[in-house]
This record gives sequence, structure tokens and C-alpha cells, in this order.
Amino acid sequence: MMRIPQKGRDWSFLKSELEDAKKDDFSWRRGRMALYYYYLDEELKRVQQEAYCAYWNENNMAHRAFPSLKRLEGEVVEMGLSLLHAPPGATATFTSGGSESIFLALKTARDWARAEKGVTRPKAVVPRTCHPTFTRAAHYLGIEVVRVRTSRNDFRADVAGMAERIDADTIMLMGSAPNYPFGVFDPIADIAALAQERGLWMHVDACVGGFLAPFVRDIGHDIPAFDFAVPGVTSISADLHKYGMAAWGASLMLLREQRLKDKYQIFTFDDWERGAYMQPTAQGARPGGAVAAAWAVMNYLGMDGYHRIARIIMETKRRLTGGINAIPGLAVLEPNELSIFVYRASDPALDIGAIADGMAARGWFVGRQAEPKGIHLALNPNHEVMVDDYLADLRAVVAQARGVAGAATAERSY
Ligand SMILES: Cc1ncc(COP(=O)(O)O)c(C=O)c1O
Repeated sequence: MMRIPQKGRDWSFLKSELEDAKKDDFSWRRGRMALYYYYLDEELKRVQQEAYCAYWNENNMAHRAFPSLKRLEGEVVEMGLSLLHAPPGATATFTSGGSESIFLALKTARDWARAEKGVTRPKAVVPRTCHPTFTRAAHYLGIEVVRVRTSRNDFRADVAGMAERIDADTIMLMGSAPNYPFGVFDPIADIAALAQERGLWMHVDACVGGFLAPFVRDIGHDIPAFDFAVPGVTSISADLHKYGMAAWGASLMLLREQRLKDKYQIFTFDDWERGAYMQPTAQGARPGGAVAAAWAVMNYLGMDGYHRIARIIMETKRRLTGGINAIPGLAVLEPNELSIFVYRASDPALDIGAIADGMAARGWFVGRQAEPKGIHLALNPNHEVMVDDYLADLRAVVAQARGVAGAATAERSY
């Protein structure tokens, strides 16, 4: 087993070892990865890095020591709240990512339901397209998640089906804006109306859409209302480290009412020798750099920058989906409303798994969809550079793949 070296090694040597360590990793820079990264350009990367480093050693748990971080975090929170139509009295928490935002929403809802409704065996009813993080967080928190099959026509939540699964232990409904498997918005207004009617918490998972959908709507696309503009929405998760273009480790958990945060989100404790301890997040020490980078990116891009990103992504999607649909035997699933889409083989002589294998063999990092079998792409601005190469390779692979069975079902899909 490897041990910490007795003698420290020279940084210049370690640095080149790190660079070397990456040699077999995927080339995200040329847009060859279908998921797992967000990149606009070198300028924005410099802003992220320098802002992060400016707060390298500052611990964001220590607002008493670093009041500047309290201010920067407060400004990031306000920008997020205003973007997502928060009413007066709303609040938000800066978290480490979508998973933590969802965890906090579930934890706050659980404690609210226990205190105000006496529910001790809580359940959440969610569409099956909802991100696995929901079930994972619920597992940690002792909440049962009921996943309800979604429509096979438009991949949206089946609201009537969700209504049927509500019982006395149900505390929460949720919808995605958009969902990850298909890039489609659930009918948030209908789910929120149902939640209101039954006195339930309504969470919107806008980890993907929170910092993209408002800008896509502004540039003229049809995006349904999904945020606090919808009556009955209690909480929203929206990731800064996805389309907010911040450095990794940045998301917001937004709440319609400050009261819910004060009473049910914040953990307080004083039964030890150091006195009172209080945390609004699942983390203790938190990187100040993540807050500084998010703050800098939002101010650097401005609304204009985010609109530019929205235009690049939607134009890239138009070119890619048009090119894929023009290849006989392939079809892009509709609808797809934002940056995510899936395509499948519409010709029985083609196996989409064999096409995925062929693309992988040509150096593409392929997102394999399990149901229906397909190829999944989550676009970011950097994919603009890959469209022609991707389509050329896809045409060649399809020509070779006729009649060949692939390994798509055997591999991990995510
Ligand atoms: C819709 C949705 N929700 C939640 C998450 C989890 O976010 P994170 O990976 O930042 O924890 C993801 C991640 O892709 C997502 O797509």
C-alpha cells in the first residue's frame, strides 16, 4: 500500500507528474465529452481560477472572521433569488452542489412535516425521471421515495399518477426543471397546485435549468414557468457550478420563506465545551474560493454573458439535432427543451449500442441512456467546436454499424 513519502518531493517534479497523470483522460477541451464539464473560454477560466485563489485560505464557515465572504455570499444569494422570481422574505443557502441543495431541501421538509404535521414516517412522491440524488439523500434522511412512472410520449411527470400515490405520510412532491434523462420540464405548475391543495412541500429541482432556462427564455424560446413565479413552489435547487459557469462546489438551495430556514434547516447545538455551534449546510468548513469564484463569474458574465451562453448552446443543439435527424436510421427524441437531448435508432437494422461503441472507439466519451436505449448529450458552450467532427464520425459509424449488435446495455449508463 502506498505511504506518505518520508521526504517531501520537489513541486516542479510533482507538477509535471500531475500533468502527466492526465494523459489518458478525456479531452473535454475539444468537446469530446458528452457530460461532466462546463467550459466557455480561457478568459472565464482565468476569472474562476483567480477569484478562487483570492480566497484560497478563507474558510466560509467563519463569517465572523471573514465578513467579506458573508457579503459576497449574500450577493450571490440575492442574484439567484432575483433571477428565480423570489418574493420578499425568501432566502437561499450557498451549498457545495446539487446533491447538497437537494439534501437540505429534503431535510428541511422532513423537519417541517414532523413539527407542523406530526409526520414521523415521511414519504416524497417524485417522477421516475427525478435525479438519483433525491433517492440517495432521502435514504440518508430516513425518507421513503415513491418514484412514479412518467409519460412515454413527452417524458413529463404524470401528475394524476403522482396524486394517486399521495397518502397521510407524504410530505413532499417534486418536479425537475428540466429532468436529466430527457431534458424536459415537468409540469411544475400542475404539481405545485396539487401540492398546495394537499398541504405538501413542493421542491423544484432546477439544478440543470436554474441558471440556463431564464436566459434561454429571454432569447425567445418557449420555457414554462418553473420557479417562485409558480404559486406553491416551496424550495428550488439551482446549480451555479453547472450553467451558472462557476467553479466546482457551488449551488443554491432557495426557500420561499426565511422562517423555514430558521426553524427547520439550520442545525444548532451547544452540548459541548466550546459552546454554541450552528450550521445551515451539511458541510462544516467551506471553501471561500467557491463563493468568490461564483460571485466573480456572475459579475463578469452579467446578463449579457449568460444570454450569449444560452445562444451558443441552443444553436449548437439546433445544428447537432438537425444533423443527427438527417442521418437515416437515427431520431432525436422530442421534446427536448434546453441543453440535454437523447437520440436513438429508429431503424431496426441499427443497434444504438453498436453506434455508441463506434463513437467511443473514435475517441468520444459517450453518455449511454438505458431506457429507451439511446445516446444522451448534455451540451455546454464548449460543444460548439465539436459539431462538424461529431456528425462526420456519426455518419461513418452508422454506415459501419448496420446489423452489428453493441454493448450499450452492458455498460454503466451514467
Ligand atoms: C437534475 C439534477 N439534479 C441534481 C443533480 C446533482 O447535482 P450534483 O452532481 O451537483 O450534486 C444533477 C446532476 O447532474 C442533475 O442533473
